[in-house]
Amino acid sequence: MSEKKEVYQPNPEFAKNARVKSMDEYRALVQSSEDDYEGFWGKMALEKLSWRRPFTSVLDESKAPFYRWFDEGELNVSEQCIDRHLKHSKNKTAILFEADNGESRAITYLELYRGVNKMANLIKDKYGIQKGDRVIIYMPMIPEAAFAMLACARVGAIHSVVFGGFSAEALRDRIEDTEASLIITADGAFRKGKPYMLKPAVDKALQMGCLSVKNVCVVKRNFEPIEIVEGRDTIYNDLIDNISSECEAEAMQSEDPLFLLYTSGSTGKPKGVKHSSAGYILWAQMTMEWVFDVKDNDTFWCTADIGWITGHTYIIYGPLAMGATTLMFEGVPTYPDAGRAWSIVQKHRVNQFYTAPTAIRMLHKVGESEPAKYDLSSLKVLGTVGEPIDPPAWKWYYEVVGGSRCSIVDTYWQTETGGHVISPLPGATPIKPGCATLPLPGIDAQILDESGNRCATNQGGKLCIVKPWPSMIRGVWGDDDRFISSYFSDIIKDGKSVYFTGDGAVYDEDGYITITGRVDDVVNVSGHRLGTAEIEAAINKSDKVAEVAAVGRAHEIKGESLFAFVVLKQSRAEDEKLKINTILKQEIGAFATCDDIVFVEALPKTRSGKIMRRILKSIAKGEKITQDISTLEDSSVVQNIIDIVANN
Ligand code: WT7
Repeated sequence: MSEKKEVYQPNPEFAKNARVKSMDEYRALVQSSEDDYEGFWGKMALEKLSWRRPFTSVLDESKAPFYRWFDEGELNVSEQCIDRHLKHSKNKTAILFEADNGESRAITYLELYRGVNKMANLIKDKYGIQKGDRVIIYMPMIPEAAFAMLACARVGAIHSVVFGGFSAEALRDRIEDTEASLIITADGAFRKGKPYMLKPAVDKALQMGCLSVKNVCVVKRNFEPIEIVEGRDTIYNDLIDNISSECEAEAMQSEDPLFLLYTSGSTGKPKGVKHSSAGYILWAQMTMEWVFDVKDNDTFWCTADIGWITGHTYIIYGPLAMGATTLMFEGVPTYPDAGRAWSIVQKHRVNQFYTAPTAIRMLHKVGESEPAKYDLSSLKVLGTVGEPIDPPAWKWYYEVVGGSRCSIVDTYWQTETGGHVISPLPGATPIKPGCATLPLPGIDAQILDESGNRCATNQGGKLCIVKPWPSMIRGVWGDDDRFISSYFSDIIKDGKSVYFTGDGAVYDEDGYITITGRVDDVVNVSGHRLGTAEIEAAINKSDKVAEVAAVGRAHEIKGESLFAFVVLKQSRAEDEKLKINTILKQEIGAFATCDDIVFVEALPKTRSGKIMRRILKSIAKGEKITQDISTLEDSSVVQNIIDIVANN
C-alpha cells in the first residue's frame, strides 16, 4: 500500500487561467474555511446564489444530525439554473443533445426556460401537482427528462428519478415509498440503433400496487406502440404546444427538499436520500467551477445517466446553475463503434469529459487506439467517478485520451454528499494515478480510527466528514432512525457523531487520501451501487432457495462483480442458475445479475447464526483462508465450499 506513486503536475498553461491556480491558493481557501466555517459558507452562498429573500443564519446544529443551512432564505432552484442566465445568455446553448443516431440538437437557455415552464404548467394545471408533492421521473436520456426535473423544482414538487435500467418491481418499490401521485415517463428511446421501451414497466408497476399514482405523463420519443390507460395516461406531445411558457416559480425555503434519490445500503431496502434546495445547488455550482473549471464557451460532458446522482449534479443542476453548456447523450459510447465517445468529443469540441472507471476500462479494452483517430485537442479536464480507478486505466486516460496535457480529476463523492468532496483541483493539485488526493475547501473529510482519532500515514481507517456541509443528505425519506443509524452511529469524535461514508481510506506520505473501497456490504458493479442484502432478498424470493449469501469480487472491467453462494431447498435444480439471474432482472434490473452463482450445501455461520461473509469474500476472490474459523458452528462447511467453487 505504501509503494510510491508517480506525481503529475498541472499543465502550467491551464493553471494560468484556472479559478484556483496553485496549491497556495488551494491552501488559502482551506484556511479561510477553517478560520471561520460559517463565514466561509455564508459568503459563498451570498456570492453564488440569487436569493429572493436572504437567509438569517448559516448553519443550525441544534437538531444534529438533522442540520439546517441558510434558514429563512428563499429561492427557487429552477431560477438559479435558468432565469438568472437569461439576461446575458439567453441564446447560449444550455443543453446539447446528442441522439443515439448521431443527430444533435442545441437547446438554448431561452428554449430551456420555455420547455421547463411549459412542463411546470402542465404538471401544475393538468395533474394538480403542488409544493411538496412527489413526482417519479422514469425517463431516458432526452432533454424532456431535464425539463421534468426542473419543472418539479419550479413548482416545488420533490422529484425522484428512477434509473431506466430498474425493473418494474424496483420502480414499484420506489413509487410506493415516495407515495408519488404523478409519474413522468417516455414510451422509450433508442439504444444502439434500436428502440427500447420504458412505458411497459410503468404499466406493470402500477398493476402491482402504487395506489397513490393518479396520472402518468408519457413523452413520445421512439413512437413505438404503447398501451394507454384512459383517465390515467396522457401524452405530453399532444398537450405541450398549447400550454403557456410562463410559469411563476414557487418561493422555496432553503431546506425544502429538492429531490429524493434511492440508493443501496446494507439492508435489503433502498434508502430515499433526501437533498435540500439551497445547500445542494450551492455546492453543485461551486464544484462545477472549482473541479471542472468550466469556462464561458466550454462544453461539458458527463456520461452518467440522470437516474444516478452524478447525472443529477453534473448533467443537470451543476452545469445549469453556473450557466454552462451541458452535453446529454442518449446512446452508448461503443455504438456504432468503439470510437463513438471520441467522435462526440471531436464533433462538439468537448472541453471537460467526465466518466466512470468501468467505462474507461471498457473503452480501453475495445478500442485502445481509437482516441488517436479523433481530434481530442479541445479536452482540458478529464474526470473519473464512482469507484477507485486502477493506475493502468488512469494512465491510458491521462496519456492516450488526454494527450498527457489534461488534468485528471478523480472525484470522490456519494449520493449522500450531493457533490464532490475529495478531488484534485485541475489547475492546482499535483495528481497521482488512482488517488482522489485532498478534501475540497470547506469539506472536513478525515480518515479516522474506531475511536475517532485521525489516522497516521499508511494506517487505513474509516473515511468520515467531521463537520456538516451544505450539500449533505438531509435524511432518509420516511425513516429518521435509519438516517442516524446508517450515517451517524459509527464514529464519535470529540463527543460528537460524525458522518461516516461507508468507505475505507488511507493517507499517503503527502497527506493524500486514497479510497480503498466500501467497508460495509455494498458492492460497486460497473459504478452501480448495490447492497448485497438487496441482492439476497431478491434471490430469496425463489421458492427453491433456502438461503443465499452474495458478495463482491474483483472484476477486470466492472470493478466488482456479484458472486452468490446459494443453498437450495431440495437437490440441485439444473436451470436454477439461470433462474436466479432472471429473478434479479425482474426484481432489480439487468445490471444487478450475478456473474458467479454456486450451489453449496451450507453457508459458514457463527454459533449465533451470523453468516461469515469475510470468508465467502475470500473464497470468491480465490484467496487462501487466513481468518480464524474456529468460531464457526461447523468449520467443515468452508472446505466443502472451497471444493465446490474449485470444481465449478
Ligand atoms: C460510492 C458512492 C458519487 C457518484 C457516483 C457513485 C464509490 C465514488 C469514487 C472515487 C473511489 C469512489 C465509493 C462511494 N466512489 N467515487 N473517485 N474513488 N471510490 O455514487 O452510487 O452513491 O456510490 O462510490 O465507494 O461510497 P454512489
